[in-house]
Amino acid sequence: MENDIQSILLTQQQLQSKVAELGEILTREYEGKDPIIVGVLKGVAIFYADMIRAIKTPCQMDFMWISSYAGTSSTGNMIVRQDVTADLKGRHVLILEDIFDTGNSLDFTVRHLLEKEPASLKICTLLDKPERRNPKVTLQADYVGFTIPNAFVVGYGLDYNEHYRNLPYVGILKPEVYEK
Ligand code: IMP
Ligand code: MG
Repeated sequence: MENDIQSILLTQQQLQSKVAELGEILTREYEGKDPIIVGVLKGVAIFYADMIRAIKTPCQMDFMWISSYAGTSSTGNMIVRQDVTADLKGRHVLILEDIFDTGNSLDFTVRHLLEKEPASLKICTLLDKPERRNPKVTLQADYVGFTIPNAFVVGYGLDYNEHYRNLPYVGILKPEVYEK
């Protein structure tokens, strides 16, 4: 598994201190607001577990699972495979995402959640890859962990063909792995 990594982009230490930094900001932002923190599965699982413990104010956990029904997310044809369970009406909602790439998934997620009439809706993404953005997506993330170059990354929840999610750092895959 580790042999398939070309280079480490973000170390465990970098990830840890970013989580702490974002946690402090979000704690201040959501103090007294009892937010619902919505994780978009599956890529966000590891980041979510770390972030939720860095947000030191009462909050609720919820998840949704979306996927594309034609090819990859870059086609923009998304469906909700599992919706949130809480009633979001009038609540402060924070979306946690692993990566903001083309933006198609986040755009879809935001539209879907806005229909539930939350009092506020903000986005926190661990990674942002602005070079890949679909020009039709004008949405911006409110909180970004790291802006990264246009490379395919894995680890800390992010996968390639459902693997590498359990690497503790974010790394760039060797090109030969794709060509296998
Ligand atoms: P979107 O292109 O912004 O819709 O991103 C959709 C999803 O693609 C993300 O939530 C990730 O699961 C996946 N994704 C995008 N870029 C990468 C990457 O570099 N590594 C692993 N997964 C990625
Ligand atoms: Mg994925």
